[in-house]
Amino acid sequence: MVGQGAEMSLTEIMSRFPSDMVFGVATSSYQIEGTAHGGCGASHWDSFARQPGAITDGSDGAAACDHYNRYAEDLDLVADGGFGAYRFPFSWPRLLPQSDKEVNADGLAFYDRLLDAMLERGLQPFATLYHWDLPQRHADNGGWQNRDVTGWFADYTDLVIRHFGDRLASVAPVNEPWCVSFLSHYWGHHAPGLCDLAATARSMHHVQLAHGRSIEVMRGHGQQNLGCVLNKEFAVPVDGSDLAAEKTYLFDGIYNRWFEESTFRGRYPEEVLALFGEHMPDGYEDDLGLISAPLDWAGSNYYTRSVIAPDAGEPHLGFRCVRGDLPKTDMGWEIDPDGLAFFLRRMARDYAPGLPLYVTENGMANADMVNAAGEVQDPERVAYFEGHLAALAALIDEDVPLKGYFAWSLLDNYEWAFGYSKRFGIVHVDYDSMVRTPKQSWHAWRAALQAG
Ligand code: FCB
Repeated sequence: MVGQGAEMSLTEIMSRFPSDMVFGVATSSYQIEGTAHGGCGASHWDSFARQPGAITDGSDGAAACDHYNRYAEDLDLVADGGFGAYRFPFSWPRLLPQSDKEVNADGLAFYDRLLDAMLERGLQPFATLYHWDLPQRHADNGGWQNRDVTGWFADYTDLVIRHFGDRLASVAPVNEPWCVSFLSHYWGHHAPGLCDLAATARSMHHVQLAHGRSIEVMRGHGQQNLGCVLNKEFAVPVDGSDLAAEKTYLFDGIYNRWFEESTFRGRYPEEVLALFGEHMPDGYEDDLGLISAPLDWAGSNYYTRSVIAPDAGEPHLGFRCVRGDLPKTDMGWEIDPDGLAFFLRRMARDYAPGLPLYVTENGMANADMVNAAGEVQDPERVAYFEGHLAALAALIDEDVPLKGYFAWSLLDNYEWAFGYSKRFGIVHVDYDSMVRTPKQSWHAWRAALQAG
């Protein structure tokens, strides 16, 4: 049987986790639902996707995986794969397409159906409130640069929790605040595609304040099991120089510690505050108490590491990321499972001792194809999961309180600036026919989860 060796070892690794460990898969609204259906409103991803050159294949999320219509089949794949949880976001522009007052009945009905379908299949709904599809009207009003976004987000939180809160196993306000802010406002790779230090500083603070205000609203409703989903990237210096070490520390401050320090200690790293200088919003210090309100769990998304090289030509950071020598995925991202273990250890030791930890996304892109036999062989992805899960299993022996792991992603989907050209799914999607084909990695997960 093809891939049997890999399946055996994933099964073996999985047996090292406690029996109550949650295993799930993750997806996101803009990447799979298809905005053309059900009265979804415009988001800044629609307008960003129209900018020439912004998306490698020029596509947008109008069709995506047609999950809006095929959600039942997709949740069958989650349950049949043996997973016990499904991590998904609500779409802000689907629920509030035109204004913050007029709720889209079709949007409410869609998430009613989706949640009921999860519960019918015994899947725990792990919800995120924001996975990057900011309503265009809010983008037109300054988006994450405008402090008012935190109030708009608090009101949207209130709507979601009032309608759906009783069916959610857990909630996190924002997926990957670093991507919402730095990646989108300094490197310009995601909507709104800015390269502006002042916009970056403002968005880096406002996304954290939006998290805090959203948590406050949810606590007010008595909502249980609230957390955060921070993306982490391990950084290594390109050489042994002091300057490379200093720039690597700055990268870690911007990418990782900005969010860890503020969420768990109520402060921002000094070296990043120095970078932002006068661009920090006035009175930001007064918000740090709200930003660091206690949470019930902490989630980490992890994919790769970066190699940091000093670069005197870079105007603000003084560094750039260069190609490293580890094996790479189809994104060109280096495969480094030890980096994931590093962050979970650091979280357990320095930021949130005793707090339940989750890996809320982990996975890889691969150039997968359906073969003549109608199968998709992705031994590279099976090996990626094995490597990362083995690193996590070692943490269990160290008493790091890891409670769950979510593979990214259930389906091949719209990979943001890479459009439909990068396949992260454990299930292949044919974008013409919308036919789903479980890959070898889906079968490996199923074998491992059934054995557990
Ligand atoms: C993460 C995002 C997710 C997906 C993966 C590959 O940063 O949260 O939507 O794009 O990367």
